[in-house]
Amino acid sequence: MWMTRVVALCLLAFVVSAEDKKLSSHANTLADNSANLAFSLYHKMAQDKNTENIVVSPVVVASSLGLVALGGKASTASQVKTVLSADKLKDEHLHAGLSELLSEVSDAKTRNSTWKINNRLYGPSSVTFADDFVKTSKKHYNYDHLKINFRDKRSAVNSINEWAAKSTDGKLPEITKDVQNPDGAMIVNAMFFKPHWDERFHEKMVDNRGFLVTRSFTVGVPMMHRTGLYDFYEDKENNLYILNMPLGKKQASMILIMPYHLEPLERLEKLLTRKQVDTWLSKMENKAVAISLPKISLEVSHNLQKYLAELGLTEAVDKSKADLSNISGKKDLYLSNVFHASALELDVEGNPYDTNIFGTEKLRNPKLFYVDHPFFFLVKDNKTNSILYIGRVVRPKGDKMRDEL
Ligand SMILES: *[C@@H]1O[C@H](CO)[C@@H](O)[C@H](O)[C@H]1NC(C)=O
Ligand SMILES: *[C@@H]1O[C@H](CO)[C@@H](O)[C@H](O)[C@H]1NC(C)=O
Ligand SMILES: *[C@@H]1O[C@H](CO)[C@@H](O)[C@H](O)[C@H]1NC(C)=O
Repeated sequence: MWMTRVVALCLLAFVVSAEDKKLSSHANTLADNSANLAFSLYHKMAQDKNTENIVVSPVVVASSLGLVALGGKASTASQVKTVLSADKLKDEHLHAGLSELLSEVSDAKTRNSTWKINNRLYGPSSVTFADDFVKTSKKHYNYDHLKINFRDKRSAVNSINEWAAKSTDGKLPEITKDVQNPDGAMIVNAMFFKPHWDERFHEKMVDNRGFLVTRSFTVGVPMMHRTGLYDFYEDKENNLYILNMPLGKKQASMILIMPYHLEPLERLEKLLTRKQVDTWLSKMENKAVAISLPKISLEVSHNLQKYLAELGLTEAVDKSKADLSNISGKKDLYLSNVFHASALELDVEGNPYDTNIFGTEKLRNPKLFYVDHPFFFLVKDNKTNSILYIGRVVRPKGDKMRDEL
């Protein structure tokens, strides 16, 4: 009895200290700046005609930028700080802050969701990675390094894809089909994210429904359903619904923003700023919501090189200007690709909830949140206010459904 109590007290002390641990001011600044970067990067990507689904982790992008700063010198390095609006931060604070932020938000012990993040820097066979760089980039950003012979393109691409598959337990089978500009350094992020809901969906209430990609194209998806109390807001002026779904232990939440009916997301995207999202969130009210959400896995890979250049990282990506000589000791590298790939799995899993609420007044006349057409989402961290993911789902995997008309 006494022992149990002591153990319980110790556990409690541990939990309290882990949750109360404050972030350093540098980490807080970078959390905030990376949330701004999230929106500017998203807009660049959304404007690209070739982009469909978007799944991007701004905090991971920020740490990849940190890696570029670590390997860069002079203006190649200082541009990174400008992109992160962190011009005034000292190098050591930039690296320590980004590193602290990433380990905080991806800590599996305190975060009740699955998030595997694997990072690798590939270089051409001619390069020699400096020991110092290998050590510090492992320490701050958890990167490992590999030289690859890009002359044999097929085997290079295979080896990247095999590594991604293996390091995500097979969840992310392919990062790329091809590698352009194989003579440079290449950043690869291979991630698997699976939200663990604060209140789980009914395992047995999953059925097949249509997801409207366009008016004339519907795909069949498994749809999961539940009714519960959620923070919800209906923007009647803009014809949008906004829903906040907490993840396990309320450490983070997934925010879904969806037009009333099927329409291209451009109209919604024009409204999207961090300030607007905060305004919507501040207007939310906790009420009964009947949610239907596709039970799907999205495997999305982006090459961010071009978008980062548009946001101001012009030197690192330019063969004639890049100075990444802290990577190899020589001015022989530039950043030729930034592959950023995630498998995002939406599933029924979550924590048990209070069933006593069913049949009570509280759940009467729920708002319907029926996700059968394109939507925008954010995974927002509750402690650091950073954005773990930003993206949109416009075309889930699935077979074309027969035309009903
Ligand atoms: C989340 O927490 C619950 C309850 O403590 C636990 O059963 C579950 O395995 C956790 N899941 C993850 C992904 O951490
Ligand atoms: C954030 O955490 C606080 C404290 O645990 C909790 O009351 C709140 O509901 C959480 N917010 C979200 C959006 O999950
Ligand atoms: C990068 O280069 C600068 C300037 O030469 C040097 O002061 C710094 O220690 C180097 N950083 C690493 C990680 O090697």
